[in-house]
Order: sequence, then C-alpha cells, then structure tokens
Amino acid sequence: MLSWDDEVTSAAPAPVRATPPAVSIPPSPVPAMRAPEQVFAPPVAPSAEQPVAEEQLARRVNAADKRIINGTTDVNQLVPFKYKWAWDKYLAGCANHWMPQEINMQRDIELWKNPNGLTPDERRLVMRNLGFFVTADSLAANNIVLGTYRHITAPECRQYLLRQAFEEAIHTHAYQYIVESLGLDEAEVFNAYHEVASIRDKDEFLIPFIDALTNPEFKTGTPETDQTLLKSLIVFACLMEGLFFYVGFTQILALGRQNKMMGAAEQYQYILRDESMHCNFGIDLINTIKMENPHLWTAEFREEIKALFLHAVELEYRYAEDTMPRGVLGLNAPMFKGYLRFIANRRAQQIGLEALFPNEENPFPWMSEMIDLKKERNFFETRVIEYQTGGALSWE
Ligand SMILES: [Fe+2]
Ligand SMILES: [Fe+2]
Repeated sequence: MLSWDDEVTSAAPAPVRATPPAVSIPPSPVPAMRAPEQVFAPPVAPSAEQPVAEEQLARRVNAADKRIINGTTDVNQLVPFKYKWAWDKYLAGCANHWMPQEINMQRDIELWKNPNGLTPDERRLVMRNLGFFVTADSLAANNIVLGTYRHITAPECRQYLLRQAFEEAIHTHAYQYIVESLGLDEAEVFNAYHEVASIRDKDEFLIPFIDALTNPEFKTGTPETDQTLLKSLIVFACLMEGLFFYVGFTQILALGRQNKMMGAAEQYQYILRDESMHCNFGIDLINTIKMENPHLWTAEFREEIKALFLHAVELEYRYAEDTMPRGVLGLNAPMFKGYLRFIANRRAQQIGLEALFPNEENPFPWMSEMIDLKKERNFFETRVIEYQTGGALSWE
C-alpha cells in the first residue's frame, strides 16, 4: 500500500505521469507515539592504549544521559548513539543527494518562450509559485543555522540539521536555476515575498517564530522558553515544511503531469522528497522532546498550537486562491480547501493532537504516490545511483 509521507528514505523520484492513477490511496494509519529509542551500543574492540584514569572515564558520554534539549553531555561526541532515528535520516538524506544543474531545462525554456506554450493563468501560477519558494528555503536555512541548531543538544540531531541546512541551500539553488533558465525577472520573483500579499502573509506568520530562536538572548531551560522552542519547531515542521509547501508542490507537479515544465517538475519532485524527510525528522524531534519533557505539553499549549494550525490553513488557502483565481490544470482553489484540511489533520495527529477537521479525504491521491518514492524506478536511476556509496540503495 502506498503510504502518505512517512519514512521517505533513499530512492529516486517517481517519473512525472501524464495520467493520474485511478486508484484512491488512503493515508497510512498514524503511527503510535514512539517509545524512547533504545541505547545503541555496538561491541567495543579492545584498545591497545594505556588504561584510562577514573576521573577521565567519568567524563565519557553515556548515551542514556543524552537529551534533545537542555542536555549536559558533550555535543562534540556523535557516539554513543541514543537517537538512532536521527542518524538514519542523516544517512538517507545523504543517499538522496542531487544537484539542480544536472536537470535539463531545455524543453521548459522552449515552452516558456513560446507565446502559445502556456496560458496566462499557468504563467501566473509559475511566477507566484516561484515567488514563494525562492525565499522560503532561505528562511528555512536561516532558521536552522542561526536558530534551531544551537538549542538542540543531541549530536545525532545536529548532524541531521547540518545535512538539512545544505539541502535547503540546494533547494534555493534549484529555484534560482529555474528562474535563471527561464529568463524570469529576478527582481520581481525574489521580491514577491515583500510585494505579493498572499506570499508576504505566509512569511510574516513564520518570521516571529524564527526571530524567537535566532535572538542571541534566547536560551532554553525554563518551561516558558522550552515551550517557545517547541512551538517554533512545530510551526516549522508541521506548518511551513508540512503545509505551506503543499499548494506549490501540487501545482508544479500538476504541470509536469501534463508534460509541461518537466525539468522544473522533476526538481520539485526531488525537493518534495527532501521536504518530506525534513518534516518527518521535525516530527520525530518534537515527539521526543515531548516525551522527555511531558510538562511542556499543557492543555493551554495544545490550544495555542491548534490556533496556529487553523491560522496556517487559512493563509495557505488564501495563497491557493491568489495563485489560481480561476481553474487551471484541472485544479482550483476550493479543491485545496479539502487538501489543506486533510494535511493539517495528518500533521496534528503526527504530534499527538486530534484531527482538526474530521473526515477530510485527500482530493489528490496522486500526490501521495509522488511522495511515496521508494518503489519507483525511473530514468534518473543511473544518475542517482552514481551518488550512492556503499550500496545505500537497494532496488527491488
Ligand atoms: Fe527546502
Ligand atoms: Fe526543508
């Protein structure tokens, strides 16, 4: 069965299809809250060195002492592992490595330059789509590098965040590469987050949560500041990477399904795979912090989070309306109302909240297939395999 977006691991993107599959794909059941990871303790080979003094031994990192936040163990020592799920995601992210300029944009360029190649509504959709994404991943990268990273005290998680930060740079590169290839007005696209209200509103929703973590005065260690961090992590994983990206991804992939802008669509498929992993990592991080600090998950805090979810769904819906004032590519804004509610339910349940909009169905089951890339072979297989080292991919 095709899954929603859990456990996206090492595989190449599915090819963009010209016709949607006829099957309806239900989401996979929400996984139960994970138990804390067992301490990973491989056998230790005997050392030829001199015996270590008692006081030195006492300083050695004990995996059981590690904590995701407010930990006191040495963050420079990656092992012994405690959060093996974070290390596994780091390895999977590396196995999925790709670079934008390897994707041929020639057909996209010809289509864009042909006055009859795309409709005015399709062009508006592409411009506003890029208008959001060209700066969104810079916000994400800054949030990781200047904010989140220094507040996380588990080195396995920091290792993943470093990989994630590089992937955000690759995504910004990909959007810039599309803008440059098509010869778009760079100033118009890169300033859309100031100048287009539906994009600006999404970013203005996010910025206070970035500012909270990047403020040099900010430190965790009290229930209030720990909740501030947790709230920012939830906003980023569940609402930015997990919700604000999905109108845009669906639009470009819908173009690709009609054999339009195939080079851009292929890059969005790689980005979608990366973002699914970022979102799942963030959710694992959030749930582990919750387990280690159950006092943070108060009724009042949960209500605050629910209100943020509702606000984010509204903002993303307005973005859908603005980018699609009329039906285009077989899509229209009202279809996204259901889709965004479906995704919001999923994200809420993934962090242990109840569904906010009961009984919503996924109106775009083909998106689940795009996200579930594990079983697909495609024409990128050879190139992708070139990146793999040590047999990281196993094709069925
Ligand atoms: Fe990204
Ligand atoms: Fe991301």
